[in-house]
Amino acid sequence: MDNTSPDFLRVLRAERRDLLNRMRQTRFESLKQGCSHSQVIPFATYSPWLDDEAFASTFEIVKDCTMVDIYRCYELYRLSRQTRHVPGEIVEVGVWRGGTAALMAHASPRKTSHLFDTFSGVAKHDPKFDTLYSGGEHADTDEDTVRNLFERIGASCEVHRGVFPDDTLAFLPEMICLAHIDVDTYQSVKESFASIWPNVQPNGVVVFDDYGIFGCEGATQAVNEIVASHRDGLFIHNLNGHALLLKHSKAN
Ligand SMILES: C[S@@+](CC[C@H](N)C(=O)[O-])C[C@H]1O[C@@H](n2cnc3c(N)ncnc32)[C@H](O)[C@@H]1O
Repeated sequence: MDNTSPDFLRVLRAERRDLLNRMRQTRFESLKQGCSHSQVIPFATYSPWLDDEAFASTFEIVKDCTMVDIYRCYELYRLSRQTRHVPGEIVEVGVWRGGTAALMAHASPRKTSHLFDTFSGVAKHDPKFDTLYSGGEHADTDEDTVRNLFERIGASCEVHRGVFPDDTLAFLPEMICLAHIDVDTYQSVKESFASIWPNVQPNGVVVFDDYGIFGCEGATQAVNEIVASHRDGLFIHNLNGHALLLKHSKAN
């Protein structure tokens, strides 16, 4: 039997399916009651990021400046393109080295990107909600790293250093088309969203990173509470670790 024979391929496919199914049965320890984790592996295989040359060349430049995987990066890139016609600017809270922010900016060059970060790591952790974060993580960055990355991709940005919203709320644009909240902890997600959402325009969107990521139970809980208390948005749980809240077209 050579390795292109129908029998060989049939066995290979069956084994692959079996392996993936076994991985899907993996259950992880629960860090918080009511927040279970299993290995999520979708069945779909369509991968448009492999055919999107504009995305691929930008991702190549930014990939060393982000801890976000290609699935979420591609989603941010496309959402940024799709919200180009929505009035307002792009906002990111939780920038680190600027990778996801640069992707969104590149996809929508006429918008201004407002980037908020402490540049001294994760803030506002609370052991009552946050399971693995204890404050100060991801401090291995600085504003110059972000500015240099934006220069390399030919986009501009406004960087606002400090704890959001406490120190930098005054710099939040009055109209927002797309916001990416990537701050890891319960309180920072809650407070970032509360400041940002009133400025999000109809058909605009807030993307929450960390939704359902192991160790980000605080951020996940914050999103669940936000969704339960807001009727002016459509919630989407994307299985890649993103949650989306799309503002209704008749809101505001
Ligand atoms: C996971 S990193 C962001 C990752 C980034 N989006 C990327 O492309 O890889 C989280 C960032 O959030 C920042 N952060 C957390 N809470 C914050 C707050 N309340 N205000 C400002 N920055 C905050 C941290 O300093 C850190 O840089």
